[in-house]
Amino acid sequence: NFRGALFDLDGVLVDTAKYHYLAWKQLAEQWGFEFTESDNERLKGVSRMRSLDIVLEIGGIRLTEDEKLRKADEKNEQYLQYIRQMDESELLPGAREYLLRLRESGVKIALGSASKNATFILEKVGIAELFDAVVDGTKVSKAKPDPEVFEAGCRELGLLPGECVVFEDAEAGVQAAIAAGMYVVGIGSPAILGRANRVIGGLYELVG
Ligand code: G6P
Ligand code: MG
Repeated sequence: NFRGALFDLDGVLVDTAKYHYLAWKQLAEQWGFEFTESDNERLKGVSRMRSLDIVLEIGGIRLTEDEKLRKADEKNEQYLQYIRQMDESELLPGAREYLLRLRESGVKIALGSASKNATFILEKVGIAELFDAVVDGTKVSKAKPDPEVFEAGCRELGLLPGECVVFEDAEAGVQAAIAAGMYVVGIGSPAILGRANRVIGGLYELVG
């Protein structure tokens, strides 16, 4: 039995992928190309700057470093306009119930996300107080599949990797958890998350 649980945010606890998608799509439209939902799959679990590089590559656009920083800010401003409207109804099914159940059984809970907006989102959907530690894109420098984010979360909980379970919806996140030496539950499709120890459709399956 695990003493700590580490959660990715986007796609595991909340469905913010649609807002990231809309914000990137608007930038692509400015540049005159179409950015599809299947293109968007490549951005899951990927940092903001790396996401921008992928979008630019898809559109065949070249920018200077300064222009990139400005465009990344613009994308984030657009994203925040959606995020500011979020409330509890945007928690994924079973998320709050499962977090509460873990807390009742004494399991420590940490967030392990690449997002720099993570704390704000946790507050918007009303689950910030359920976390013992929050490790997000403002605290780590190496992106998933590097294990840094989960190693830091586990350390903040005062636990060892073998005592922690990770919940992830991105392939890079599953790889990061494996590299950290943790048990990993994939959330989504077994075809994409096949390397996880177990794959489920969503946290609702665990509270059933
Ligand atoms: C998560 C999402 C990515 C996003 C990244 C950075 O990993 O899955 O799609 O690009 O966070 O998010 P941010 O809120 O810092 O732009
Ligand atoms: Mg995710």
